[in-house]
Amino acid sequence: MRFRAFFMIGMLALAASLPALAQKADKSPPGKAVAFSQDKGNCLSCHGFPSLTDAEQTGNSGPPIIAMQARFPDRAALRARIWDASAGNAASFMPPFGRHRILTEEEIDQVVDFLLGL
Ligand code: HEC
Repeated sequence: MRFRAFFMIGMLALAASLPALAQKADKSPPGKAVAFSQDKGNCLSCHGFPSLTDAEQTGNSGPPIIAMQARFPDRAALRARIWDASAGNAASFMPPFGRHRILTEEEIDQVVDFLLGL
C-alpha cells in the first residue's frame, strides 16, 4: 500500500516534468525549421551546413553556410542577401525569398538569427 502511494506520487511528478523536459530537448531556433523545411527555405538543397551534424545530404551549388557572424558582421547585409540574392549578383539562381514572398518577413528574420548562430 505504501509502495503504491510512493509509486503514484513518483509517476505524477514525472508526468508534471515531461513538458519541461520536452521544451529543453527542442531548443533549436525557429529559423532552423524554416531553413531546413523543403516547403520553406529548402536551403539544404544548395548549401552545406558543416557545423551541423543533422544537415544531411546537402547540395553544394551554394557556398557552405559557416562562420556567418565573422563573415557577415552587418546583419542587414546578410538579410538583404536572403531577401533577394540577385540584388548583389544579377546572375544568382538563389531564390529571392523576400522579393518572391517565398518566406514571410518574420521567417526571413528567424533564418537570419539562425544563420548568425552558425
Ligand atoms: C537553388 C539553390 C539555392 C537555394 C535553395 C538557396 N541558396 Fe543561398 N546561395 C546559392 C548560391 C548559388 C549562392 C552563391 C552566391 C549567389 O548566387 O548569390 C548563395 C549564397 C548564399 C549566401 C551568401 C553566402 C556567402 O558565403 O557569401 C547566403 C547567406 C545564403 N545563400 C543563404 C541561403 C539561405 C538561408 C537559404 C534558404 C533560406 C538559401 N541560401 C537557399 C544558392 C541557393
